[in-house]
Amino acid sequence: MHSIKLVKQKLLVQIEVDPNPREVLKSVELKKLYSEIANLPPKQRGPYGKSINELKLSLESAVAEREAAMEDMSVEPIDVTAPFDVNSSLSDLLPTENGSQHPLTRELENVIDIFTRMGFDAIESRQIDDDEHMFSMLNFPENHPARDGFDTFRTEEGFIPPAHTSTMQNRILRAGKARLESGGNIAAVSCGRVFRNEDIDATHEHTFHQYEGVFVSDSATLGQMLGTLRSFFETYYGQKLKIKTQPAYFPFVEPGLEFAIERPAALGGKDGQWLEMLGCGMIHPNVLRAADIDPEKYRGFAWGGGIERLVMLKYGIEDIRHFESGKLAFLRKFA
Ligand code: FA5
Repeated sequence: MHSIKLVKQKLLVQIEVDPNPREVLKSVELKKLYSEIANLPPKQRGPYGKSINELKLSLESAVAEREAAMEDMSVEPIDVTAPFDVNSSLSDLLPTENGSQHPLTRELENVIDIFTRMGFDAIESRQIDDDEHMFSMLNFPENHPARDGFDTFRTEEGFIPPAHTSTMQNRILRAGKARLESGGNIAAVSCGRVFRNEDIDATHEHTFHQYEGVFVSDSATLGQMLGTLRSFFETYYGQKLKIKTQPAYFPFVEPGLEFAIERPAALGGKDGQWLEMLGCGMIHPNVLRAADIDPEKYRGFAWGGGIERLVMLKYGIEDIRHFESGKLAFLRKFA
């Protein structure tokens, strides 16, 4: 009887782990138990045979249970690389509509495309920077009120989420120095997100995007800059434009200008409606010096403009706050 109990324990475990549990019913141990009946005194044969039968029944029901459990586990495999609707049970839960690029991403790519075709390298601007790049290397004197003009945010550690893409100027100049000195030019645009602690309204956001151009050669002129910008705006809006500049102060350029275009009739404009698009100017000698470039030998120009205002004019968007609103009704118009 003792051996029946031991065999039962062992075989029940095997049934739980064997990939083919029914095979366990044919085990040598079980056969041995049956063959021992003949060796027993006739009186014990009845109860012994009954115990073996009970053992066999409980093993059979254990096998049936395990087989049923194995069948439950064999569900249809899911193709994780397939679109949602192939895996039908998932498609009930998830949308099958295609997404689309955010209009700002698309227009940013457009802007980069135009400048790279004009020979500019494109880089992404940083979203966290320091006092040096935001102010000192851009010729902002220490404790100068112009530093307050940019309404910068600061982290507790003193870092700055940049208020303009001009924070990339020193890096662009340093990276291009060797090319300049071997007879080439520096020509780069940096684009990205910028942050200002300012009151928001229909034309001002606290988080917006800028595109910044930097060009340096041994003979760069203001005329080349105006030609480059005119050519950019006329390509972007697909038509001839009237342009106008007026003096403006930025510590990192001399002279500094505000660049405006006349709102074209095709884009809802009436004569004489000027729109300020960006700030620009000839790079200040101190900014070149901060990047170890000799201002006696090289000259450059730079500009920085807002992407949102560019796009708003193109599509007649009346409020800048639509861009970051996440409203699908707005986004679907550009899908
Ligand atoms: C600057 O940010 C300078 N870094 C531009 C510059 C670069 C001048 C290189 C000279 C040389 P300003 O603060 O004016 O300048 O901003 C430039 C452009 O960013 C504006 O013309 C406008 O198009 C956009 N802009 C500025 N503030 C906002 C705002 N709160 N929301 C949306 N767009 C803005």
